[in-house]
Amino acid sequence: MRAVVLTRFGGPEVLEERELPDPHPGPGEVVVRVGAVSINNTDVWTRAGAYGTDEPAGWLGPIDFPRVQGADVCGEVVEVGAGVDEGLLGRRVLVDPVLRYADGPEPLVEAVLGSEADGGYAERVLVRADRVHDVTDSPLTTAQLACLPISYGTATGMLERARVRRGETVLVSGASGGVGLALVALSAARGAHVVALSSADKADAVRQAGAQVVVDRRQGDIAEQLADLVPAGLDAVADVVGGDLLATAMPRLRPGGRWVVAGAVAGPIVQLDLRSLYLRSIALLGSTMHTPEQFGVLVAAANEGAIAPVVAQTHPLRAAGSGHEQFERRAHVGKIVLEP
Ligand SMILES: NC(=O)c1ccc[n+]([C@@H]2O[C@H](COP(=O)([O-])OP(=O)(O)OC[C@H]3O[C@@H](n4cnc5c(N)ncnc54)[C@H](OP(=O)(O)O)[C@@H]3O)[C@@H](O)[C@H]2O)c1
Repeated sequence: MRAVVLTRFGGPEVLEERELPDPHPGPGEVVVRVGAVSINNTDVWTRAGAYGTDEPAGWLGPIDFPRVQGADVCGEVVEVGAGVDEGLLGRRVLVDPVLRYADGPEPLVEAVLGSEADGGYAERVLVRADRVHDVTDSPLTTAQLACLPISYGTATGMLERARVRRGETVLVSGASGGVGLALVALSAARGAHVVALSSADKADAVRQAGAQVVVDRRQGDIAEQLADLVPAGLDAVADVVGGDLLATAMPRLRPGGRWVVAGAVAGPIVQLDLRSLYLRSIALLGSTMHTPEQFGVLVAAANEGAIAPVVAQTHPLRAAGSGHEQFERRAHVGKIVLEP
């Protein structure tokens, strides 16, 4: 099969198209013919080795080269291994990219497709049968479905952990980004009132995804704007930005409100007056990706057509490097998708 492999840490030029042996399923596994695979920050930062502090590394540690990247896969089951329901053959499936969840009350993610095992930048990918979810009848296109696992999975995990419900007001930061746009769409789909923070040039797209109000994060005082726009206060904040926003917006949460954070693009070290937290019984929650149950919630939304992910652009698989370059220019809204 044709695949694009990550040959070492570096720029987009370290992604090389190669011929690799077709994978075949062992017991409990399936082979998925990749219809579409989307690009994530994780792919770009892993390619660059940007997660390492002393040595270049992927987000969960060292990477074995050559490695086929790609965590966000939608495609068709073309082979099943021993013990797997043959009814899966020919079904269009969305792949849960978590290879291994830790045991325990919070099933933390220990390994991810395209990072600790070969992923979807290929014509075929080998996955565990219990990680594929039938989306044959979803009204979404295969490219749209490939937008979902990491961004929308992370967003689903955040909204579930923060128990965001119909009628609540939720602030979404980084709203024009991969996770942010998913947070906007999924919050709106569950009937929440969405206030979004974004750059002005991406505000229309954020509104189209379901935000009622978009605040330009680069203009004016965000705390004052939020006080004017949401005088009754926020029920929840779904945050991928961190930085100064915690001190700025925490006082705008109602007593008993929830702040869920899954990223820190504006800076991981924050200042916070803890009294704004404990005196008003605010819950501050960390969130990484999703649990198996939360992924099920996302698959249900995809099958119901409750969301319509935005595909910014598709590229042929062999142009994965160009896809990474486009991603890093960050002028796009929505997801960049590769099609083998
Ligand atoms: N915990 C998890 O499981 C998980 C999973 C996926 C991603 N993440 C993390 O979540 C974060 C967002 O990921 P993503 O893929 O959505 O990234 P992304 O697509 O690059 O989007 C981030 C958005 O944040 C905004 N932004 C950038 N710099 C900013 C700043 N200094 N202050 C405020 N806003 C800023 C940008 O929009 P505007 O310029 O329009 O405002 C951008 O669209 C990253 O930190 C990533 O590592 C975590």
